[in-house]
Amino acid sequence: MGTVFDDRRYLIPFRSSLLPQIFTDVLVIGAGVAGLRAAIEAAEQGADVIVLSKDSLRLTNTAWAQGGVAGVLRDDDSTRSHIEDTMVAGADLCDQAAVRLVVEQGPPLLHELIDWGMQFDRSDAGELLVGREGGHSASRIFHAGGDATGAELERCLARRVELNDNIRLFDQCFSLDLITPSDEPGAPVLGAVTHHARFGLQMIWARTTILASGGAGQLYRETTNPKPATADGLAMAYRAGATLADMAFVQFHPTTLYLPGASRSLISEAVRGEGAHLLDDAGERFMVAVHPLAELAPRDVVARAIVQQIAQQGGKHVWLDCRHIDGFQSRFPGIFAELSRFELDPRRDLIPVHPAAHYMVGGVRSDLQGQTDVAGLLVAGEVASTGLHGANRLASNSLLEGLVFGQITGARAAEQARTNGSRTGPVSIVSDIRPSAQGEIDLADVCSSLQSAMWRNVGIERNGTKLHDAVDMLTFWARYTLDKIFDEPRGWEVQNMLLAGSLVARSAEWREESRGVHTRTDYADAEPRFRVHDLWRRGTPTPATTPLVEEVPA
Ligand code: SIN
Repeated sequence: MGTVFDDRRYLIPFRSSLLPQIFTDVLVIGAGVAGLRAAIEAAEQGADVIVLSKDSLRLTNTAWAQGGVAGVLRDDDSTRSHIEDTMVAGADLCDQAAVRLVVEQGPPLLHELIDWGMQFDRSDAGELLVGREGGHSASRIFHAGGDATGAELERCLARRVELNDNIRLFDQCFSLDLITPSDEPGAPVLGAVTHHARFGLQMIWARTTILASGGAGQLYRETTNPKPATADGLAMAYRAGATLADMAFVQFHPTTLYLPGASRSLISEAVRGEGAHLLDDAGERFMVAVHPLAELAPRDVVARAIVQQIAQQGGKHVWLDCRHIDGFQSRFPGIFAELSRFELDPRRDLIPVHPAAHYMVGGVRSDLQGQTDVAGLLVAGEVASTGLHGANRLASNSLLEGLVFGQITGARAAEQARTNGSRTGPVSIVSDIRPSAQGEIDLADVCSSLQSAMWRNVGIERNGTKLHDAVDMLTFWARYTLDKIFDEPRGWEVQNMLLAGSLVARSAEWREESRGVHTRTDYADAEPRFRVHDLWRRGTPTPATTPLVEEVPA
């Protein structure tokens, strides 16, 4: 990338020897499904674990997940069909080996969750209830609390964490940077420099660090993600020398509540799974003419169709019609309550909806063990790019991926703790950054300009000119934002967002084709020469590429 993004190895100046020192076998950054599942696995295999949560456990993408967890648990479904659906959604860019791994290893982990007390919704007869979402050819979405699957999953895993004396959970703890003994490419990660709301800066030394820091929805003006989803993990990994892949692919959820002043609350795809219709201003179902699965087409198709419908008819949204769904309130209590705040009753009223950024498909490239190309650094969950999602994530595959790669990385980290001899660190690390000669900036203004530019130029429909402009704008803002030294999380977040946003824009500009969630109006089709993963690494201005992993390695 351009040098402005590559100048600094660390966000702040520090001398490791002068900071409080903390030691652990395994450091897990992030407390959503992947982070908590990794921590549990590592701790149950005897490792000493610290989990960092940037905010509270209620503000993770996991806790906000509504729809459910996909998995093959029923006799009328098959692994093969789930694999096929995932590959079709992924628009010919999935690594088949990763798809097979997650689809096959998921079901036992779902049973294990039930043993741990996860309260999936059941019929009066005690059978697990199952729902349908876009792109799935079978009903295989398991849910809890109607539309509160993520909150129940977070509760269940957090309880298990609480019961394990090997795990220390630090909340309100911001990870600034992964630490390496030198700035040379290939230097191993030895933990992280962190900032705790009460205790300030700390060095946490770990034999293995698992990055499970979640998503990047806050890069966009319109997003379903909670405030902490500011792409910190992507930026940290990049600065530490790890390779990021497929950054162009950002998934937009078709249906979020669109009312001036309301947050863009998700209206789960499961609502369309229960039969809700999308209507234009004339009250017609426009999706019927777009795709054989109509409202249950893959999300990229639905999101694009909504944007095109709005462009044709004018206005800012289309309508979701749920009036014919029996028992809406009991099936979707959270959504019902949110709508009530605005005096909307889905049994009577149409709901104004519009797409919003939802899920970061690209991320830190890893192999099937969650291993990145930097020693000591594993990744799991949304921050990772395992190859599972290809160019578009199939609905409800993300909680499943978090469970599977959480378990895999936790086990691997525990093994490394058993076999790696003495504890890591402390070594002397000096980050010597001079304060900028330029004056103060208005951070809030930089942040909102970035979010608007990403939405306008790097959103659902893109073209070369808009992407090029976005790259230029982000580089310009970065010049006078990345040279500053901030002493609180908001500054570090905006610095991380500029870096990650720039990677998304550059990857989207490079990918001269339309594939999955990446739609270029100037290149309408998928191109065989782009059926590769694009790889971005600090210090290299243009991406490398790597072919797909088609087969499970022996
Ligand atoms: C939803 O409930 O629509 C979101 C599910 C997902 O993103 O997988």
